[in-house]
Amino acid sequence: MTRKILVTSALPYANGAIHIGHLVEYIQTDIWVRFQKSRGHTCHYVCADDTHGTPIMLRAEKEGISPEALIARVHGEHSRDFAGFHVGFDNYYSTNSEENSHFAGTIYRQLKDNGKIVSRTINQLYDPVKNMFLPDRFVKGECPKCHAKDQYGDNCEVCGATYSPTELINPFSAVSGATPELRESEHYFFKLGDCESFLKGWTTTPGKLQAEAANKMQEWFESGLSDWDISRDAPYFGFEIPDAPGKYFYVWLDAPVGYMASHKNLCDRLGLDFDEYWKKDSSTELYHFIGKDILYFHALFWPAMLEFSGYRTPTAINTHGFLTVDGAKMSKSRGTFITAESYLNHLNPEWLRYYFAAKLSNTFEDIDLNFEDFAARVNSDLIGKFVNIASRAAGFISKRFAGQLASELGQVELLNRLQAASESIAQHFEAREYSRAIREIMALTDEVNQFVDLHKPWEMAKQEGREQDLQQVCSILINAFRILTIYLKPVLPKLASDVEAFLNVAPLQWQDAQTLLTNHTINTYNHLMTRIDPKQIEAMIEENKQALPAPAEAPAAAPSYEIPAISETINIDDFMKVDLRIARIANAQHVEGAEKLLQLTLDLGNETRNVFAGIKSAYKPEDLIGKHTVMVANLAPRKMKFGLSEGMVLAAGGDGGLYILEPHDGAKPGMRVK
Ligand code: MSP
Ligand code: ZN
Repeated sequence: MTRKILVTSALPYANGAIHIGHLVEYIQTDIWVRFQKSRGHTCHYVCADDTHGTPIMLRAEKEGISPEALIARVHGEHSRDFAGFHVGFDNYYSTNSEENSHFAGTIYRQLKDNGKIVSRTINQLYDPVKNMFLPDRFVKGECPKCHAKDQYGDNCEVCGATYSPTELINPFSAVSGATPELRESEHYFFKLGDCESFLKGWTTTPGKLQAEAANKMQEWFESGLSDWDISRDAPYFGFEIPDAPGKYFYVWLDAPVGYMASHKNLCDRLGLDFDEYWKKDSSTELYHFIGKDILYFHALFWPAMLEFSGYRTPTAINTHGFLTVDGAKMSKSRGTFITAESYLNHLNPEWLRYYFAAKLSNTFEDIDLNFEDFAARVNSDLIGKFVNIASRAAGFISKRFAGQLASELGQVELLNRLQAASESIAQHFEAREYSRAIREIMALTDEVNQFVDLHKPWEMAKQEGREQDLQQVCSILINAFRILTIYLKPVLPKLASDVEAFLNVAPLQWQDAQTLLTNHTINTYNHLMTRIDPKQIEAMIEENKQALPAPAEAPAAAPSYEIPAISETINIDDFMKVDLRIARIANAQHVEGAEKLLQLTLDLGNETRNVFAGIKSAYKPEDLIGKHTVMVANLAPRKMKFGLSEGMVLAAGGDGGLYILEPHDGAKPGMRVK
């Protein structure tokens, strides 16, 4: 039976480059789609750029261009990167489209008619300089729990606490540096709590979610479903809410609708029946591939939005884990925050497709890209075992038999076994157990190589009267290679198409594994794939050590080390207002009752200052006494619970550490720093 399948990957934000972490998802999805197509099903793969929201608006402003110009440029870059990795979308669209505006508005109106939308006045932090409300990620300040400085408004990267931005100590706007004010605004909410019984049923329907996801759901249900704030105030880059001028849909409202919009656009181009896919009782299949960080949006908000606006819900949500590189989170400073573009500058995309496939399963488990393992595995499996089969057989067929394969192969146990594995391998692909599929294919590849070693065609070639045997053995090998190529084709589409050219055959489909090539002329063999040279990997890492643009509106689980945006330009007079002085730490001691503070006595040459500094987590008092540092000497004194603090020492912080500044030898207390 031919299935009708619609598949999506999450829509990448339009303000950052595609990196190899993203590619876990797009490669995983692409393999599944190619597999379905190869099985003869009608399968469409749609995606789009996720173009709305504050980070994109501010990013465009910083670059001095319109948001439309920014997203148009990024659309080009993303399309280029995906094509480079052979990710074969049937449509790659944009959430900033007519279709998306239409569906977002329609869904909103239907939810409203169904009593699922309420409005309420809320208090939110407002940047009085920038004249805008601040999303949580754009408020920074001191963590209310551990007092780490420079933490985001929603959670602390040092101690892991979560809180609301109004709880930050000394909050400031990450956009302008101004102290935010609390202001009232009317917001629209989607009543998720009202959808609880539907969602409980939906999320526990077998096949919708993986076991790990279903468990996560239980936790969420237990902590209660709160209403979801779906509106934002101007200025905002997004769609204005139909009946609420000056209010915009929050980016996450129209982002999943972007799946529909992209599909609608495809249907209009190809003359397909969109409603057949999206109507309530549709018999077509709909799958969303996503990362575990965005499960909440896809397993709760999205099915509830669809259900209560009269559309079908997804067949299943397929969630994957995160990519680590050499066992650690991708890191810009280590050069392992690898962009798709820089990878393609140095390495073959199919090496990564193969490596990911060899590691992916149907779980949330994170997968690690270990470069040594990567090179060893690709070189051994793809070049040493797979491509080797063709190179061992092709030369004889070309030179001795003018490219002609034998007309009879006889009953060959090896080929029977290869053909018989078809359904088992297919089941692994279907279940997204790619690592199992690869293991089975590689075990068969080993058998083919054993067959070569057993029959030794190179010896046959030297023996008189064994022409026919040689042609037959090499023809068997070419056939074995052809079948293995069919099984690997979802993973290695480019290599497979080169093999098709070499074999002089039409594009191979899964079913073709059940036929054999006899009495057929093949083309001359050209080397199909080179080995990985570790130098290529080194060069790529080196290239990535250069700074990258700040990543998108980062979900909590995304790489956390970000270089904060540089503040607004100031003139020299502004700077000179800050009186920075060299200070000698004359004394340092613990403060009774203070968890995070050390009390410092700072010698400024002709006076001493008492300063409470939140550096206890990083320094022992005895290690500081006698050292020199830099302090702000003209900061207004601040009364604290433990006494008066008369200044501030300078420290670098952010990525989980805290480092106070120390001048080179020779600097004396009281010297001005400028
Ligand atoms: N724009 C949202 C998705 C909206 S879908 C309606 C978004 N964009 S993203 O660019 O941050 O991420 C896109 C996809 O890539 C997500 O599924 C995310 O989980 C995945 N990944 C991003 N970094 C990743 C890794 N390091 N590892 C694996 N997947 C990662 O979220
Ligand atoms: Zn903290």
